[in-house]
Amino acid sequence: MENRNRQVLLRQRPAGVPTPADFEIAEAPLPEPREGEVLVRGIFLSLDPYMRGRISGQRSYARPVEVGAVMEGRVVGQVAHSRDPNFREGDYVLGGFGWQLYSAVPASALLRLDPVEAPLSTALGVLGMPGFTAFVGLDEIGKPQRDETVVVSAASGAVGAVVGQLARRAGARVVGIAGGADKCRWVEAELGFNTCIDHRSADLGAALDRACPSGIDVYWENVGGAVQQAVFPRLNDFARMVMCGMVAEYNDVEPRPGPNLMSAVRKRLKIQGFIVSDRSQRFAEYRAIAAPLLRSGELKYREDIVDGLDRAPEAFIGLLQGRNFGKLVVRLAEDPTQRA
Ligand SMILES: NC(=O)c1ccc[n+]([C@@H]2O[C@H](COP(=O)([O-])OP(=O)(O)OC[C@H]3O[C@@H](n4cnc5c(N)ncnc54)[C@H](OP(=O)(O)O)[C@@H]3O)[C@@H](O)[C@H]2O)c1
Repeated sequence: MENRNRQVLLRQRPAGVPTPADFEIAEAPLPEPREGEVLVRGIFLSLDPYMRGRISGQRSYARPVEVGAVMEGRVVGQVAHSRDPNFREGDYVLGGFGWQLYSAVPASALLRLDPVEAPLSTALGVLGMPGFTAFVGLDEIGKPQRDETVVVSAASGAVGAVVGQLARRAGARVVGIAGGADKCRWVEAELGFNTCIDHRSADLGAALDRACPSGIDVYWENVGGAVQQAVFPRLNDFARMVMCGMVAEYNDVEPRPGPNLMSAVRKRLKIQGFIVSDRSQRFAEYRAIAAPLLRSGELKYREDIVDGLDRAPEAFIGLLQGRNFGKLVVRLAEDPTQRA
């Protein structure tokens, strides 16, 4: 065990696209767990688009990260020292420990992980918050029916990959939208989407017309921007638009003008946003469905693993520009369960 902690702090609130200068790497003494607390050594840190909102200082559904504070984030780690009877040294846990190597946290804030059930890192992606987001949004808003056409943006990403696979299991025709030929190939060949469109292609509208000859019944919104502009006029009567996120717009300084909403009346559209944490009581239900599918190989996933805490800022900046391919995770330390 190191005798110092290492942390990434928010140095200043970014104006527009974040830069490495908005973050600061700092050393700190190792935290001392109090009675009822546990010292956790991080193994994998999750980087997620929502973190852009947390550092903007705008009013939102969650409190922002303060300037000078440790960046917020979910971490899979191992108990290094326990002062709580429910956890022992060596246990694997998940919690919101932030962008740092060590943290001392109340035992009540920990979720125990079983590395035999699934690789530890999956607790941050396919079996964690992003996968659960896909499940909730489809089950409660998208409700894809057999032979309907479902379009999923950021299709190769942590949320999008699960959305498409669950929609396929519901019998829908699934069209992905992703950035680049490699991502599209993987979405079709590995995830089994019917087709995938590169959003960088010259005429996205024409590509959507070819891929969706019967129009679009469900649109899973992950990106906003030009993709949303192309999809919106192609929605069918009674289409559902699942407003999960608009990552292409997170670095904007001014909000962009939205689509004209008269067609929402004419087409009787349902456009609904959601925040997955409002539905956390359904998490065990998702795990019970997804974990066996993962074990049997029916639910596929991909992780983009970056080594070292110091690379977290640069990797996070890249996430907001589509440089990740799969669930973005930072490896803070070697995963002991993966040793040969
Ligand atoms: N509502 C909720 O509770 C909830 C929960 C979790 C996540 N979300 C949202 O779900 C979305 C996906 O999150 P995720 O964790 O699965 O991330 P992700 O898809 O793994 O990574 C983000 C992806 O967004 C795309 N992207 C980034 N910048 C873009 C740009 N400027 N223009 C177009 N595409 C861009 C890129 O994919 P391409 O290269 O393929 O375009 C990138 O790989 C985000 O909007 C996130 O905020 C919402």
